[in-house]
Amino acid sequence: MGAENPPPPALRPSLLRNWLSLSGLVIGTGSLFSFVLLFMLDTMAHYSNPYIGLLTYVIAPGFLIFGLFLTMVGAWRARRKLGVAAGILPKLVVDLARPEDRRRMAIFIACSILFLLLSAMGSYQTYHYTESVQFCGQACHTVMKPELVTYQHGSHARVACVECHIGPGAEWFVKAKISGTYQLYAVAFNKYPRPVPTPIKNLRPAQETCEQCHWPKKFVGSLDKTYNYFLGDETNTPFSVRLTMKVGGGDPTHGPVGGIHWHMNVGNKVQYVATDVARQKIPWVRVVDAQGVVTEYRTRNFTNTIDETAIRTVDCMDCHNRPAHVYQSPNDAVNLAMSLGKIDTNLKWIKTNAVYTLTRKYTNETQAVQSIATHLAGQYPDDPRVKPAIEAVQQIYRDNFFPEMNASWQKYPNNIGHKDWPGCFRCHDGNHKTADGRRSIKASDCNTCHTILAQGRGDELNFLSPGGQKFKHPGDAVDGACNDCHTGGL
Ligand code: HEC
Ligand code: HEC
Ligand code: HEC
Ligand code: HEC
Ligand code: HEC
Ligand code: HEC
Repeated sequence: MGAENPPPPALRPSLLRNWLSLSGLVIGTGSLFSFVLLFMLDTMAHYSNPYIGLLTYVIAPGFLIFGLFLTMVGAWRARRKLGVAAGILPKLVVDLARPEDRRRMAIFIACSILFLLLSAMGSYQTYHYTESVQFCGQACHTVMKPELVTYQHGSHARVACVECHIGPGAEWFVKAKISGTYQLYAVAFNKYPRPVPTPIKNLRPAQETCEQCHWPKKFVGSLDKTYNYFLGDETNTPFSVRLTMKVGGGDPTHGPVGGIHWHMNVGNKVQYVATDVARQKIPWVRVVDAQGVVTEYRTRNFTNTIDETAIRTVDCMDCHNRPAHVYQSPNDAVNLAMSLGKIDTNLKWIKTNAVYTLTRKYTNETQAVQSIATHLAGQYPDDPRVKPAIEAVQQIYRDNFFPEMNASWQKYPNNIGHKDWPGCFRCHDGNHKTADGRRSIKASDCNTCHTILAQGRGDELNFLSPGGQKFKHPGDAVDGACNDCHTGGL
């Protein structure tokens, strides 16, 4: 009898010795390991990454649970089988004295190490991927397409999104996590606004982003800038303005404090209150200088008492609000393409026609690109010069208009100048006065911020006036704010 009945097992047979449970254990261990690693990377990293939270707290635990689930299912199935075959599993004995067991043990250890290494590499790579421009710009393709495309054409195309949008520090770590998770949710459930609203509420202050690379101590001096235009007449008359832009500097130890970057003077503060979300209407401004002297300016009709929490201190982003994502206006883009020769300036009325096609409303890019071609081809039948012009206008459309996201120049004010948007004239419009009415923020003088060296066309541009010329507006002399008439489509 003893020979027929195997001895009862000393230990309970392992229910885990089946493929399902073993795979489950492998997946579980791997994800636990990834979790620990991601968690460590994320806490120690220079930048807190908003999306890594998803990996660390959702995906890795998800796999862990899945692994445990598999293990359990495997064990449950093994138990049912055992019930049938009533405990005939042999005891697991590892005897390192036996060469066979030593060999198996070595293979097991080697495989485990390899596996852990691979999951470490995997996690690390994924972590880096979520920090990459590719992830930020392409993972949620439609939503970020406008920002990605405009960024790629900007002067910061080699600065990673995270360098401006997420920075070091514990407070921002949490903020970025929350907003990152919310963004993923919004994209997954199609709840995001179109266009993405601007300004960004939880953008880090400029001191912590821009000033990693550009700091107010640098004295820029003056910049020589030339703007080339073409008028909307039959011959597309050229018109240029050459300005000396008095950018200046903000730190007395590195150059005179003055010019436009005077606002960034390390010693004083310019503060303001905006009455709209886009910060386009600024009725109240206050300057606190190095000696602590406070000067307050208000527009005439603004009598509200000031809510101290609504006050914002001017930083780089109040002027350079589009350092990376410039949506060119139809007028600027066509002027540029014409001055570069991409659109033939000898085509009659081409300025007007090109700007016209770009200011129409289209439902998607394909429709827009087709309509542009049909319209322009119709205006210049049998003229071979129109083909490159059509291509140039279509390219302008692709680079600056994103109908799916409802994004274009109209939705994103650019604060750097004053032609198409209020920009500097939000404060420098001559209407911001001190209580006694004696002083106002400098405005009326067109030479405060720049001097016009030359203007006009042809030979006129060779006569430079270092002292500055009076602006000769093309056509009739004009009154009023530039952006009353100029909206980007004119
Ligand atoms: C040089 C710094 C910089 C870089 C690099 C950068 N951004 Fe921005 N981004 C900004 C600033 C500044 C704003 C506007 C902030 C404001 O007005 O509040 C902005 C705005 C945005 C907005 C809000 C919508 C808008 O246009 O105002 C999104 C979305 C965005 N960026 C995504 C990205 C993505 C994706 C990348 C990488 C492909 C990127 N950014 C790279 C500085 C940067
Ligand atoms: C990681 C470094 C880095 C960061 C962060 C950065 N920049 Fe730049 N910035 C550059 C480089 C590089 C250039 C182009 C090279 C040059 O002009 O010397 C540039 C160019 C510029 C220019 C001149 C060109 C232009 O587009 O008019 C401005 C203005 C500017 N940056 C503003 C900003 C602002 C505002 C921020 C913060 C939102 C910022 N930068 C953040 C590196 C950076
Ligand atoms: C009051 C508005 C204003 C503020 C605030 C401001 N800038 Fe500027 N900045 C300008 C203007 C205007 C120019 C001229 C460039 C132009 O016309 O496009 C300029 C030019 C620049 C340039 C380009 C210089 C070049 O060689 O092309 C850089 C870089 C720059 N600013 C960085 C900064 C940084 C960084 C800050 C924050 C510390 C800052 N700016 C704050 C208005 C401002
Ligand atoms: C939030 C309001 C505000 C905005 C926006 C603003 N400024 Fe100013 N700016 C001031 C105040 C206030 C002063 C100091 C008052 C004065 O001396 O008239 C000043 C002074 C100046 C000065 C004279 C500096 C000196 O040497 O005394 C220049 C130049 C200037 N701003 C250019 C600009 C340009 C260019 C822009 C747009 C890119 C701009 N500002 C946007 C508020 C603003
Ligand atoms: C508060 C400072 C400031 C004052 C005052 C000012 N400008 Fe400007 N202006 C700027 C800045 C900054 C730019 C650069 C815009 C850019 O580079 O996109 C500019 C650009 C221009 C341009 C080129 C426009 C473009 O964007 O194509 C013209 C023309 C011009 N200014 C004319 C004038 C005239 C005329 C006056 C007087 C009514 C005036 N400016 C007063 C700051 C000022
Ligand atoms: C009363 C309306 C009006 C005002 C205000 C006005 N403009 Fe114009 N501007 C026009 C018209 C109309 C044209 C001619 C457009 C054309 O032929 O393409 C024009 C043409 C221009 C052009 C050349 C064409 C082009 O492609 O941009 C410049 C530069 C210009 N204006 C700058 C300014 C500046 C700077 C101010 C503010 C100081 C200003 N304008 C104020 C109506 C105005």
